[in-house]
Amino acid sequence: MYVKSKEGFPSEFLFGAATSAFQVEGNLNKQNRGESILDDYSTNEKNADFSVASDHFNHLEEDVQLMSDLGLQAYRFSVSWVSIFPDGKTLNEAGLHFYDHLIELLLKNKIEPILTIYHFEYPKALVKEYGGWVSEKSVADYIRLAELLFRRYQNKVKYWVTINEQDHVIKVPHRLGISNNLSGLDYENTAQVANANMTVAQAKAIELCHQIIPNSKIGPAVNPIIALSGSSSPKDRVAAHEFEELTYYYMTDAYFRGEYSPLYKKYLAERNIINPFTDEMTDFIKKNTPDFIGINYYMTQTVCANEIERTDLRGPVIIKDAEAGIFETTENNFLEKSKWGWEVCPEGLRLAVMQLYNRYQVPLLITENGLGANDELVNQQVSDNYRISYLHQHLEQLKQCVQEGFPVIGYCAWSFIDLVSGHNGMSKRYGLVYVNRTDNELKNLARIKKNSFHWYQETIKQRGRNL
Ligand code: BG6
Repeated sequence: MYVKSKEGFPSEFLFGAATSAFQVEGNLNKQNRGESILDDYSTNEKNADFSVASDHFNHLEEDVQLMSDLGLQAYRFSVSWVSIFPDGKTLNEAGLHFYDHLIELLLKNKIEPILTIYHFEYPKALVKEYGGWVSEKSVADYIRLAELLFRRYQNKVKYWVTINEQDHVIKVPHRLGISNNLSGLDYENTAQVANANMTVAQAKAIELCHQIIPNSKIGPAVNPIIALSGSSSPKDRVAAHEFEELTYYYMTDAYFRGEYSPLYKKYLAERNIINPFTDEMTDFIKKNTPDFIGINYYMTQTVCANEIERTDLRGPVIIKDAEAGIFETTENNFLEKSKWGWEVCPEGLRLAVMQLYNRYQVPLLITENGLGANDELVNQQVSDNYRISYLHQHLEQLKQCVQEGFPVIGYCAWSFIDLVSGHNGMSKRYGLVYVNRTDNELKNLARIKKNSFHWYQETIKQRGRNL
């Protein structure tokens, strides 16, 4: 239970906010940019695509001024890989100017940059050439990008995020840039190979970052979906545990141990899915583990045991809602859901911090947390009190973790400004700042501070004493 405390967050804790390049920047034809696998991807023709997004590219100074007005101490953003290496290999110096400028502005405003090297935006040319992450060749191309960024920003950027939600990338075919036609075992094997390549690429980036910038902190952003037990039945408790092992610990175990847990290995073996980690990979990864875990936390999933005998292999799905013989998701009468069916559970954030710290003993950084909603602009105002309530409750839980002694570096609200949601365009907004456009109409792209902006500004000012 949360116990209200008058204490605020410690002075070194960073209050931040986050975005990603493809979701905010727009201006896809800028300075010889190449094509990414997301450029022509659209989940639904009614949704906004990424061509203009929030037009951050053309509103950079105004947007950083808003960050400063908000009182942000940290801003997490990602670079567009194809702006910097349009074909994945050849440097386009002009593509770096935007990030040079952004970082200068952040530092001038005393905002700590948290730079994500890769957030879904994979170069199309590399997928065409060798299949992208499914080939070992991808490691060298990722390292080319990482090394360039480490060298260029070594005196400016201390916090680095290697890969955003690798667990999500390998579960969703279009995020890997591979065909949707692959299904069943073919897809599962392909995704496993990609997972191993990405894990090795991350370990190499960590090694290099530590060599080039000795006082840096580098880690991945993972997406832990905490499982709640559907009933007090011990079988459901076991199912909840297995859900976590199979949907997110497999990823963090790969990062920290260079191998999967016994349960995950058994899961793969029983389904004839390959386990591509070799002893050599394991040794290397164990020597180059993350300094922190970035947590993108949105929701819990309530699960109960499933006792149906498994007869076939599932194809790829975004979030597994059932795994024959292991678990299935179920309703939770204690929790509300967002309009998109995401279970809202602030305590889940606290569980994520406690569980990940206890398993790996490294600091945590909340790299994303927020509520997607259908905000409405009425008389130049956005009354997003539902978002204030979401952020308030999650920050309360985090404050409790910090006061209990868990090392939490900071918190980045998702998102700083409205952006194009990964799967729901502009109708699912996350920002503290409203962008005046819709899915089909660009309007004037004006920036308007939402009620949540003012609430977060006050929370930062009080360092969370108001929570
Ligand atoms: C995270 C991603 O998975 O979830 C973000 O890192 C994304 O890019 C966020 O926007 C919310 O998901 P969605 O689909 O609602 O935009």
